[in-house]
Amino acid sequence: MGRPSSAAIVLLSMLLVTISCVPPPRVTGNEETAGRYHMESAVDALFAPPSPEAIPGDLRGEQIRLGYEMVVNTQEYGKRYVGNALNCSNCHLDGGLNPNAASFVGVSVLYPQYRERAGRQVTLTDRINECFERSMNGKSLPSDSVKLTAIVAYIEWLSQNMPPGSAVPWRGIPRLNSTHHPDPLNGKKVYEKKCVFCHGSDGQGTRGGPPVWGPRSYNIGADMARTIVAASFIKANMPRGWGWTVTDDEAIDAASYINAQSRPDFPDKIHDWPKGNKPSDAPY
Ligand code: HEC
Ligand code: HEC
Repeated sequence: MGRPSSAAIVLLSMLLVTISCVPPPRVTGNEETAGRYHMESAVDALFAPPSPEAIPGDLRGEQIRLGYEMVVNTQEYGKRYVGNALNCSNCHLDGGLNPNAASFVGVSVLYPQYRERAGRQVTLTDRINECFERSMNGKSLPSDSVKLTAIVAYIEWLSQNMPPGSAVPWRGIPRLNSTHHPDPLNGKKVYEKKCVFCHGSDGQGTRGGPPVWGPRSYNIGADMARTIVAASFIKANMPRGWGWTVTDDEAIDAASYINAQSRPDFPDKIHDWPKGNKPSDAPY
């Protein structure tokens, strides 16, 4: 098959954006947290976030809108802090409003929270900065930064309808539960058949999709560098617009193939999981 023309890619991407606005059919919890929150809470919230179009026009609304722009257009608004070609919304799909892709809806009520990777209590701003340093291969924003505060304001605004003490059952990426042993060689075949069109045969991305490995991708310290996390994301969301169409084995193999390629290092990784309990799919 020859390379598709860029006009075709633009048309296809527009179509996909339209398709992907339809709420995905399945919502489940994050294996690491959902069960615990279910047990602790009396009420389950509904996934009923406000639309970014409803951001108020007042001063507070201006801050929320800046937070939204930081998330969907990080390349422009967060330029100084980003070291790759990604936007937050490349993984936190639909501006953090997609319940199958580490949604931001409701999560502000869960912080501060103890995190095993950090080995301490982290605030929401700490957690955002973790993604800046790792997923965005960049650097953390100062705690008094207007841009950082704006992202928090956006996430809090998206969490405004959460009843006190409620669970966030759609939290995180719904984890695949599989005993399949990752096979990167088969993953290469899956990638070439189902992913190359948008992410490129060299993984460096095309106009239809961001890079998935190499110097402009997430670094080795990112959650997405874990095979089960990436596989779960792929299963639920990839190919973009056709979530839940690859088999569990295909998702796991493709994830292991992508994560076996080179990507930026994260020297601070030596401080991770200081008290143990490192997940089995951590790459270091
Ligand atoms: C039709 C185009 C298309 C196809 C095919 C596709 N993707 Fe994607 N992928 C995207 C787009 C677009 C995004 C970013 C989503 C957004 O910004 O809304 C993305 C995001 C991702 C991400 C997270 C962001 C990043 O770049 O690290 C991963 C990982 C990923 N895709 C893997 C895959 C895998 C594996 C396959 C094959 C099973 C696949 N994709 C197939 C378009 C596609
Ligand atoms: C390469 C993909 C990727 C990119 C880009 C990315 N993140 Fe993340 N982020 C993740 C993953 C994966 C998780 C953990 C999800 C899970 O464990 O199920 C996460 C978790 C989070 C959480 C915690 C959510 C919770 O449930 O507690 C926040 C907040 C967050 N990211 C903010 C951001 C912000 C802000 C940006 C942009 C500056 C960003 N992320 C960019 C992949 C990404």
